[in-house]
Amino acid sequence: MDDQLEALRSEALAAIDAASEEAALEQARIKYLGQAGALTAISKGMRDVSKEEKPRLGKLLNDVRGAITVALEDRKRALAARADAAAFANIDVTLPGAAHRLGTLHPITQLLDHAVGIFRRMGFAFADGPDIETEFHCFDALNTPADHPARNEQDTFYLPDGRLLRTHTSTVQIRTMEKETPPIRIIAPGAAYRRDEIDATHLAQFTQMEGLYVDEGVNLGDLKGTLEFFFRELFGKDAKFRFRPHFFPFTEPSFEVDIKSTALGAADKWLEIAGCGMVDPAVFEAMNARRGDLAFDPERYTGFAFGFGLDRLAMIMAGVPDIRYFTDNDQRFLAQF
Ligand code: DAH
Repeated sequence: MDDQLEALRSEALAAIDAASEEAALEQARIKYLGQAGALTAISKGMRDVSKEEKPRLGKLLNDVRGAITVALEDRKRALAARADAAAFANIDVTLPGAAHRLGTLHPITQLLDHAVGIFRRMGFAFADGPDIETEFHCFDALNTPADHPARNEQDTFYLPDGRLLRTHTSTVQIRTMEKETPPIRIIAPGAAYRRDEIDATHLAQFTQMEGLYVDEGVNLGDLKGTLEFFFRELFGKDAKFRFRPHFFPFTEPSFEVDIKSTALGAADKWLEIAGCGMVDPAVFEAMNARRGDLAFDPERYTGFAFGFGLDRLAMIMAGVPDIRYFTDNDQRFLAQF
């Protein structure tokens, strides 16, 4: 049995050494260590071995098994290392990598960030509110009674529970005055929704930017100065303005702002870009009633508000002929910004 074991050891080690790939190595493992393998066969002979010889032969058997096992593992590691080396041999690690094309911020987002930055310099803080709103925040509190045409079902998206998708960001004026007290100076960009027929100048969802300033002694001059400063930062110092009397339920007096600027292509044409006005005292009274205090005492406080569409502004600034380009998600369009 000694001879058999020693012969098996040399044969197995030689076979393992000669195995040049993993499959051959696995064959060797099965042949020598497998359940029906050579070592198992020899170990069956232990039954006939004398009691005195058993411990010594048992130890030899384990030695041989151990030696073959270690040789198999070593060889396996060596083969794997060789395969790795071969795989890396043809790689030129000095070649430049495959570059990912970096995206940019959406043009509306870029304009929004820029606009918020300008207002921040004037001390306006960022505020926001939910897109799904109550009629109270979208209309009633903004002095827009139930029979006002803006509340028509055809103009707005109503949810079954009576809430609606806000038709303007003016709702954030109300959201802010519910929880803050004067002085208030906020800017609120966000989505607005209307049940409009979609065409080159209308989307069912668009982006607005709202502003509200409430304090003692705020007047029309402050409103004009603030908006003119903002739009000059955006369009250049040569911009000309026209504050045209208009009507909004929540401001009195109200204006539409027209601008003329060479930066906007048509240097001699007035373009309407914003709505604004002095906060109607009825809005302050609605807030006081809601809050149950006199935080917005109309005898003490005045304010101005304004709102404009960022999509429209971006279209004018970049000469984009169709608002739908902003939502088509076409790389050829977006990559230009
Ligand atoms: N909410 C108005 C709209 O969507 C825009 C607007 C006009 C906002 C006058 C204002 C404002 O804050 O004072 O058409």
